Amino acid sequence: MIFRPNGGMTLVPDRVPPSAWTGHVPFAGWIVEAARPRSIVELGTHNGTSYLALCQAVARLQLDCRCAAVDTWQGDDHAGHYGEEVFATLSSYHGPRYGAFSQLLRMTFDQALQQFEDGSVDLLHIDGLHTYEAVSHDFTSWLPKLSRRGVVLFHDTQVRERNFGVWKLWGEISSQYPAFEFSHTHGLGVLAVGEEVPAPVRSLTSTAGTAEGVFVNDLFARLGEAVRCRAELETCRVTLDARESALAEYVSAHAGLTRQVQELESAVAAASTRVSDAEAAAASAQAANAANGDIRAAIDAGSSATAAGLVELRGANADIRAAIDAGSAATAAALSQLRDTMSDAMSQLSEALNERGQEVARLRDDIAEAERARVSLEAARSAQAIQLDDALSQLAQSRAAHAVVEERLLVEQRRYGDLADEMSRIEELLLAWSEPSGATDGVTAASTSSRIDLQFALLRAEAADCRERVQALDAQLQVIQKSRSWRWTGFLRHVNRMIQGN
Ligand SMILES: C[S@@+](CC[C@H](N)C(=O)[O-])C[C@H]1O[C@@H](n2cnc3c(N)ncnc32)[C@H](O)[C@@H]1O
Repeated sequence: MIFRPNGGMTLVPDRVPPSAWTGHVPFAGWIVEAARPRSIVELGTHNGTSYLALCQAVARLQLDCRCAAVDTWQGDDHAGHYGEEVFATLSSYHGPRYGAFSQLLRMTFDQALQQFEDGSVDLLHIDGLHTYEAVSHDFTSWLPKLSRRGVVLFHDTQVRERNFGVWKLWGEISSQYPAFEFSHTHGLGVLAVGEEVPAPVRSLTSTAGTAEGVFVNDLFARLGEAVRCRAELETCRVTLDARESALAEYVSAHAGLTRQVQELESAVAAASTRVSDAEAAAASAQAANAANGDIRAAIDAGSSATAAGLVELRGANADIRAAIDAGSAATAAALSQLRDTMSDAMSQLSEALNERGQEVARLRDDIAEAERARVSLEAARSAQAIQLDDALSQLAQSRAAHAVVEERLLVEQRRYGDLADEMSRIEELLLAWSEPSGATDGVTAASTSSRIDLQFALLRAEAADCRERVQALDAQLQVIQKSRSWRWTGFLRHVNRMIQGN
């Protein structure tokens, strides 16, 4: 046997998005282990089934290998055109797992060319637009990038519908390079373009067209079918989970609806009961209506009797009215008499009221008069109070003046006494002088006598002056004591003396 199986063939993919490539996942594992590439490029990635399988194989073997996926992630005429979520989902899964050695190049295949050196790519997977022209262009343009170990994979070599043309290109190039084609899963061509393609790959290509090649194709077909079934199973599980959770929601909703139905049934039962009650009430009302006819007949009979009674009552009523009229006349006469009596009483009352009114008016006049008198007395009292204040102040002045006068009087009286004493002494001296003395000569006696006369005259004049002033003060004192304010304030002076203990 030439073909060399390896562990990569049993690769169980971590993630298998929906794809027509799923059946080739075991070969992706095998080729990575068989070729041990240092550089992998994929043209056309979409959801990432083939590319994630290649990356998983690289990671499992911990190869020193750079990987790149090129795609616009917009779709094409064969894959269909899709939205942003495809790239977003792939990117969020791919980044944390393979970002260290792999990158997603969002661009056209032609734009990506310049990012790769010629002869640098060991493994190239072409899976873009599948027309003959497109795939031929992709192969031709990328061929220079392949290394001496270069291997190219072509998907959909078996598809001949919808203008797929990979089969045609494959027909042209598979005879130019060592090649092997898997027929299952829409066909996958393996083209060994490098001159130094690793031996396991060369071994594979050498089985092409042989029974062993058929065996290898069947082997990978079965392995691929297993992966596809597993993926389908996984999809079914996811669908089942979704359905189960939907079922759970449905069951819960059903339980809610069942409860609502039960509530509605109870409500209907209650309503039915109310309808039955209403029907029974209607029946009894009908019965009552029938009984009503009898009652009405009885009422009619009663009405006739009542009419007769009414005629009778009207007669009695007339008698009562006559009696009332008679009573009314008597009452009117009594009322008239009462009115007269009341009128007299009212007149008397009115007169008495008049008198009382006049008396009240007089009293009011008296009160007014008294008030006026009170006011004038009050005014007089105020005037007297003012006069009293004046008198008191005059009294104070008079007392002050009186005190001054009395003081002066005392002074003058003392002086008058002194003068009188002096005059008596002088008169005694004169008397002694007039008597004869042997010791005194005539000249001395004459001069002494004239000096004494002079002094005596002076004293007399001073005494006269003093007497006049005493008389004047006496007169002034009498004037004060005769004055009205002195008389009026006598009581006050008496009180004052009592207060001072005199
Ligand atoms: C069939 S799908 C790829 C399938 C994928 N290999 C898998 O495993 O399922 C083709 C992809 O190639 C992309 N494509 C086609 N022509 C392209 C071009 N010239 N440049 C970039 N992307 C292109 C499309 O956007 C599409 O996603």
